[in-house]
Amino acid sequence: MAQLSPSRPVLVVAASGHTQDSMLSAVAAQELEAAVSTDLETIAEAWRTAATVLVADDQAERLAGRALPHRDGVFVVGPRPELLSAWSAPLAARVIPLPDGAAWLGAILADGSSRARAPVIAVIGGSGGAGASTLAAALAQQAAARGGGAALVDVDPLGGGIDLLLGAERAGGWRWPRLSSAEGHLGDLRGYLPVVDGVTIVSMARGPALDLAREPLAAIVTSLRSRHSLVVLDPGRALVPAAREAIRLSSRQLLVVQAGVRGVAAARQSLASYDLRGAQAVLRRVRGGLPSGLVAETLGIPVVAELPVEPGLAAAAERGDPPSRAVRRGYRKALDELLGRLGDGDA
Ligand SMILES: Nc1ncnc2c1ncn2[C@@H]1O[C@H](COP(=O)(O)OP(=O)(O)OP(=O)(O)O)[C@@H](O)[C@H]1O
Ligand SMILES: [Mg+2]
Repeated sequence: MAQLSPSRPVLVVAASGHTQDSMLSAVAAQELEAAVSTDLETIAEAWRTAATVLVADDQAERLAGRALPHRDGVFVVGPRPELLSAWSAPLAARVIPLPDGAAWLGAILADGSSRARAPVIAVIGGSGGAGASTLAAALAQQAAARGGGAALVDVDPLGGGIDLLLGAERAGGWRWPRLSSAEGHLGDLRGYLPVVDGVTIVSMARGPALDLAREPLAAIVTSLRSRHSLVVLDPGRALVPAAREAIRLSSRQLLVVQAGVRGVAAARQSLASYDLRGAQAVLRRVRGGLPSGLVAETLGIPVVAELPVEPGLAAAAERGDPPSRAVRRGYRKALDELLGRLGDGDA
């Protein structure tokens, strides 16, 4: 009954009644799902994986008796002040008195920490035209095709626009300028942004170059993470502050390296100037290029995938055909390998 999955991140420890009703309506209002249980064994199992644990005041004593390890994100909730004050310390919990604290309960659930958080990948070109934007778009498309939705964020003010790459330039929805004053907590953005083939797109508006501020990017990425299975960022190669923030926000950085001598030399420079210590290389094969072992050794980072030469990609991009439709099996296999590694816990 209380199986906790990434889409059920809130553990509700409450018997049926008013307190449970208040908790569950706050959870539903945030479009989250909860696992409900009063069984101590089940609770002990879900205790570590839940993003947030809400404990009804009349369950707190039983739970404290079980001596579960202390963790963040535990709240004792209910109408009885004496129970709230008695059991918050043993559970290392904060208290939410009801009914007065109902709005606060909503805010806590809304702050993002209660939600499943998708990995964030930044795809960076080791040299100009290395294929970073193409890989970013193709990864997002492939992740979306697997279900759970994916988001693609264009942070490159000098790039050609990621919406063009996906043939989405005419799709309705907000672009960066509408989002550029975003700060703090944002709700669900999906209804406002263009979505193509299951990929939610945050794209640059064409016009005068926009230097994006860092704050809106963090708020937008936080919002996107909670509603998609993967968020892919395309920081571009202009070292604007937002691009650096994109790299900082990412849980994984992929450096697309053209496998020739100049591509590898440029990638080495990029590694140093972007400060990409934890990055992994994705090799874009070129005719007569260097073997992956040598590239890994030269760059001092692992090569985690190799992209074959795809002669159809450039023309497809000109037509606005999404990369996932233009690439062949070898490229798709590399995408699957990259996405498969996200589940390894190294993301
Ligand atoms: N594996 C590939 N095989 C052949 N062509 C490719 C491959 N990957 C990308 N391309 C082509 O290379 C060109 C540059 O790709 P893309 O715009 O993705 O690179 P980028 O690294 O984002 O460039 P920029 O430095 O401008 O941001 C495009 O024409 C694209 O279609
Ligand atoms: Mg690009």
